[in-house]
Amino acid sequence: MSSAGERGLVWVPQASVIAREAGARLREFFARGVETEYKGDVDLVTVADRTCEALIKGRLAEVFPEHGVYGEEGTRERMEGEFRWYVDPLDGTTNFAHGFPQFCVSLGLEQRRQGLEQRGAGLEPDDDGTIVAGVIYDPMRDELFTAERGKGATLNGKPIGVSKIEVLAESLVATGFPSHKRHDNPNIHFYHEFTLRSHGVRRAGSAALDLAYVACGRLEAFWEFNLNPWDTAAGALLVEEAGGRISGFGGGRFQLNSSEVLASNGRIHGELVVLFKDMFAGRNLEPIPTPEEFAQRRAERAAAGMGR
Ligand code: IPD
Ligand code: CA
Ligand code: CA
Repeated sequence: MSSAGERGLVWVPQASVIAREAGARLREFFARGVETEYKGDVDLVTVADRTCEALIKGRLAEVFPEHGVYGEEGTRERMEGEFRWYVDPLDGTTNFAHGFPQFCVSLGLEQRRQGLEQRGAGLEPDDDGTIVAGVIYDPMRDELFTAERGKGATLNGKPIGVSKIEVLAESLVATGFPSHKRHDNPNIHFYHEFTLRSHGVRRAGSAALDLAYVACGRLEAFWEFNLNPWDTAAGALLVEEAGGRISGFGGGRFQLNSSEVLASNGRIHGELVVLFKDMFAGRNLEPIPTPEEFAQRRAERAAAGMGR
């Protein structure tokens, strides 16, 4: 295994220290138990989210004083800077609040002025730059996922790569559902269709870890509607650096502010894009019985003395 210094890593070593420190705080809060507040009707937040964002913001300012910070819990610092960290201090808050041990710290670094000469103009505040570093730390498993652009991805210092599965039918995939505007989201239809066409769909509740799991080959793919840059920045780079692909549902360039993400091992990406296209067009969908139809058939089978 080559050391971080040998691999020429610029940001990952210090960001890893910060993610580990924040993760250790999350572990303490988790062991102790915390009170939950509501940000929206089902959108939860805890003292752990806020404390860890403050901790990360302070540490980033110490080691990268020029860098901007854009955090889920409201941090907006040095937004005009060339570099910007997207910080999710606790990805998986609902799990955390329920004592379900699947959550992480996610730190993704965007370089916002690269290629400025070619583009011939300054960046607008919302323009996408290039994600150049990502760190995701799972404090319950002590797993640290890292990547820098062009330098590969690692898990606890060892290189990782995406899986070699070639077809969706042999894949394990993952998704998530938003807590915000739940009634306006069609993802349950996609969940159903993917369940019928794969080895299964996991909904574990941390988008950043889902992306890290695609990067290290535990999952073949992940998709979700309406994510935010702090959920995806680090994981998107991990997937790419591990040899996978990340895009919108139509296969176009993934953008931090595009609020849709489709990540895969690359090998099944084309198949996934076709499936998304078909589904949005209402084509080739697998029928399933409604609960009412199911109950009726069950009653008919029982009346005829047939088994389940
Ligand atoms: C959430 C998690 C979850 C995803 C939600 C996100 P949070 O982030 O990543 O897996 O399905 O859409 O909002 O709120 O726990 O940081
Ligand atoms: Ca999140
Ligand atoms: Ca969060």
